[in-house]
Amino acid sequence: MKKLLLSFTLAVSVLQSFADEGMWIPMLLGKQVYADMVKKGLKLKPEQLYSVNKASIKDAIIIFGGGCTGEIVSNQGLIFTNHHCGYDAIATASSVENNYLRDGFWAADKAKEIPTQLTVKFLDRIEDVTDRMLKAAGNTTGEARTKALAAETKKITDEVAGTNEFKNAVVASMFKGNQYFLYVYDVFKDVRFVGTPPESIGKFGGDTDNWEWPRHTGDFSVFRVYSSKDGKPAAYSKENVPYKPKHFLPVSVKGIKDGDFAMIFGYPGGTNRYETSFGVKLKTDIENPTLVKLRDMRLKYMLAEMQKDPAVKLKLASNYASIANYWKFFDGESKQLIKYDVFGQKQKQEAAFTAWAKGKPDYENIFADYEKNYAAWRPYAKYRQHLNEGILGSPLVRYVSSWRAVRQRLMAKDFNPEAIKKLMEQATEARKQFLADENKKSDQQILAQALSMFSADVPAEQHPAGFFAKVLAAGSIDENPFKQFAAQVFENTMAFDDAKWNAFAAKPTVDALQNDPAFAVADAFINQYNNNYAPKFAAFAEKNNDLGRMYLKGIMEMNPEKVNTMYPDANFTMRTSYGKVQSYQPKDAVKYDFVCTLDGLMAKYVPGDYEFDLPAKFVELYKAKDFGSYADAAKNDIVVSFITSNDITGGNSGSPVLNAKGELIGLAFDGNYEALSHKLAFDKDLNRTINVDVRYVLWCIEKLGGAKHIVDELQLAK
Ligand code: ARG
Repeated sequence: MKKLLLSFTLAVSVLQSFADEGMWIPMLLGKQVYADMVKKGLKLKPEQLYSVNKASIKDAIIIFGGGCTGEIVSNQGLIFTNHHCGYDAIATASSVENNYLRDGFWAADKAKEIPTQLTVKFLDRIEDVTDRMLKAAGNTTGEARTKALAAETKKITDEVAGTNEFKNAVVASMFKGNQYFLYVYDVFKDVRFVGTPPESIGKFGGDTDNWEWPRHTGDFSVFRVYSSKDGKPAAYSKENVPYKPKHFLPVSVKGIKDGDFAMIFGYPGGTNRYETSFGVKLKTDIENPTLVKLRDMRLKYMLAEMQKDPAVKLKLASNYASIANYWKFFDGESKQLIKYDVFGQKQKQEAAFTAWAKGKPDYENIFADYEKNYAAWRPYAKYRQHLNEGILGSPLVRYVSSWRAVRQRLMAKDFNPEAIKKLMEQATEARKQFLADENKKSDQQILAQALSMFSADVPAEQHPAGFFAKVLAAGSIDENPFKQFAAQVFENTMAFDDAKWNAFAAKPTVDALQNDPAFAVADAFINQYNNNYAPKFAAFAEKNNDLGRMYLKGIMEMNPEKVNTMYPDANFTMRTSYGKVQSYQPKDAVKYDFVCTLDGLMAKYVPGDYEFDLPAKFVELYKAKDFGSYADAAKNDIVVSFITSNDITGGNSGSPVLNAKGELIGLAFDGNYEALSHKLAFDKDLNRTINVDVRYVLWCIEKLGGAKHIVDELQLAK
């Protein structure tokens, strides 16, 4: 029946119907893609989505902080984003006495909003700079090409943004270096914290529920962007005024149904949908498992200290959350890649490509070359993971690795007392910041265990010469030598010793630096890498770039009919994805509904639990069924979250989910476990985006937070 219907549709329409896969560049939707959006329900004109001259949805979408998306929801610069995107700013604004992270916060009026270190970026325009970039690169390959492209990128971005700190220009590579676009942003630096629900709501379910559906997390927080009086980007100033945006999103409280059109605008960070079978194998064999076990270890030591002391919790919370987020991601990614045999799927695609490429000199050896390239790098892949996730996973070692730059300056020929003085002032400031975030207890255990795991896991011939002999010498027979060694490092480094540090800062010498035991650890492992494996990694990455560029070029040549409906991999540039509200079947005989409700949330409630506790007021409101005007008619309950078939990835966090008319219906905040292989392969049946329902957001603001004035600022569509 289904099939019949499908062929009928095809017969009467020239339109191709796509799966919901695709992260489209809003400026370049193309006729076919736009027509498909309309067919699936979109009620807006192309220029309402993206326009150079007129206000459009793109003007309400921002880069929030370093790696998230946010949206403007009022004519006074009000921003909605995820709780996990505001997390660091919320923790920073909190203290044990005013614990906004734990208790929530709502600024009673604009004067009570709290300044942050955050910036937000508005996209001003996009330009195709392919000709310039490809001309600059010419026929070069490898390192020469990397250098030529970097030089041209610098020229282009300097022309546009120069030294203007309120402009940001980025040249983004599309289709693995076959196309280049320039993105120009306005950078706003006065961003204030307006409000958040308590963490028990904003991160309800914690890491247990992270990357999973069903899901009951109220993952939102609220900020405001300020501008100078004349509406220009500005640094923080009391004189600044709430920014008047070109466009802001109206908010729909009408609710959603299964099958409704849903569109997401935002900044997906990275995908690699044309990853090779060799890349998949390296990931599942070495990269992911190594990262996961090292993070597992670090998280365990951090959590133990966080649970003991609220001050430590505030200190480590944000760092902990980001380590935990991708710990679970990479673990799940491997499991799904293996479960769906993505390796086998890729091999099939590669075999088809190689068959097509036979006799075409540009293309026929691509996969043989890939194989050689991976074989050359693979023996060192573990070292790289252990360095980044283990040795430098110790915050102390990561911090003292910054002293390598200090040493370099001390050794420079233009050594002059003034310059050195300035350098040491900066170094002293950096030390202060390190100490503010440092928890020695967990860090010392991390270092001991990271060293032990390195020595057991990385081939002995790759160990820094003599290093582990020294460690063993530090231990007595009946004690763990790694623990004893780490204890000595923590005891003797000047990183923790004000007197030693001050003496060094007053009279810095290369010798004094190199005699520091923490510095010696960082230096040994980094030197070993830089001298022996970094050049191999650079050659590996550059060869992959060359091969990838040719592979994509070949794919387009092989499938000319598909070129207009191909989308480039995510690269943290603005994309739009469209699909629908949709339930799914995670496994045989199990069907997942498309919404979660307060009833389901209460069923997970565990009083006093680290991840599943709830505020007393929340429980009271629930018991009184005090839903205000936000109840869902069909469920006779508050809908907390819903899922859609949209194609998104990390970086999209905080992205607006829009209905057919461009009204806000939710905020995207996660992907589902069954599709954690999505960076390398989109699964049209299982891929879902998890969104917090905007009606729940408003309920939390008004009923739980008592901040009706925020709701009053919005333009509600009823
Ligand atoms: N998985 C979410 C994302 O990457 C972040 C969730 C943060 N919550 C957490 N429990 N770590 O968008």
